[in-house]
Amino acid sequence: MIMSIFSHPDFDGHEAVHAFCDTESGLRAFIAVHNTNRGPASGGTRFWTYASDGDALADVLRLSRAMSYKNAMAQLDIGGGKAVILRPEGAFDRNALFAAYGRSVETIGGTYITAEDVGVSPADMAVIKTQTDNVAGLSEGDNASGDPSPVTAEGVFRGIRVAAERAYGSPDLNGRRVAIQGLGSVGYALAEHLAHVGADLQVADIDTSRLARAEKELGATIVDTNDILSADVDILAPCALGGAINSDSLPAIRASIVAGAANNQLRTPDMAEALTARGILYAPDYVINAGGIINVAAEVAGRYDVAWVQTKLDQLEETLGEVFDRAASEGRTTASIANEMAQERMAVIRDWR
Ligand code: NAI
Repeated sequence: MIMSIFSHPDFDGHEAVHAFCDTESGLRAFIAVHNTNRGPASGGTRFWTYASDGDALADVLRLSRAMSYKNAMAQLDIGGGKAVILRPEGAFDRNALFAAYGRSVETIGGTYITAEDVGVSPADMAVIKTQTDNVAGLSEGDNASGDPSPVTAEGVFRGIRVAAERAYGSPDLNGRRVAIQGLGSVGYALAEHLAHVGADLQVADIDTSRLARAEKELGATIVDTNDILSADVDILAPCALGGAINSDSLPAIRASIVAGAANNQLRTPDMAEALTARGILYAPDYVINAGGIINVAAEVAGRYDVAWVQTKLDQLEETLGEVFDRAASEGRTTASIANEMAQERMAVIRDWR
């Protein structure tokens, strides 16, 4: 199969799309730099099993574009980029692979700064750091911001309260029924916030190891992964991979709010209209899940500061509220309002090089 780049359906004027291969370690990776108007492209690296190179390319193109929108919407001085590493088949030396990846990041000279995404651990980040300084989300060192997931979860939790305020007239989540798809780093931390304020949780994950803990510690009800999107709840929080909202899942959704951490929740853009037509309030993913990159941006700026991160999370709530209010008053989808606001913010060119 010959893959196209410039005519690829997910190509969106990306500034650069890099492909890296290191036969010794088995590294095969794409780094996509979508837009650097606001600063160096920043976004996580995903380590995942892809059915084909084409699937990995589509993922990196979509994810990097979303990072530009996310970073602009959160008014951060960074641009949008993302990387995916195709998980090798069979045995491999993880440290050698991530070291080779670190060298790849180094070759593109600071136009891309990486952090964690799905499948990448703080230990992997430390290995990448041995090869390049263009890395953030570290656990140790000056300005280290650590795992971004708890901050992402806090931002999503705050955003769910904003959505509840608009949908039900109160941000109070006590007794609200919430379904969480994916109890990973973000999903579990989100579940803890929600349980703490008395929400009634239903949870699903393909990896069963965290389910029992959620049941025991948070009183969550375990739901089959095939049923979580159609659970009888008030709020649906997709916190696994992208594409949860699609033409198959949409008709069965019973929640009146969709608000979660996963990137690219809408499999196709028309899902925004379809959600609105069904009276479901959608919190645009890249607005509500910006907490992690806010945390990373503090490290990139060389001044990690908890108070600054909290101020940016306050701003995230305000921005999300503005998206909801404008969508309601202009009779448009929340996604189209968010896209318009992000594009305006992305058009501002900073002289950072
Ligand atoms: P993770 O890898 O720790 O957790 C993902 C979880 O989803 C895993 O437990 C996995 O088993 C589960 N899962 C996968 N497919 C599933 C399915 N079909 N049904 C149910 N569960 C399924 O990843 P993490 O870091 O928690 O991220 C979750 C989502 O949030 C991803 O889409 C990620 O891109 C996004 N995100 C994460 C941020 C972060 O700070 N970690 C920041 C912004 C977005």
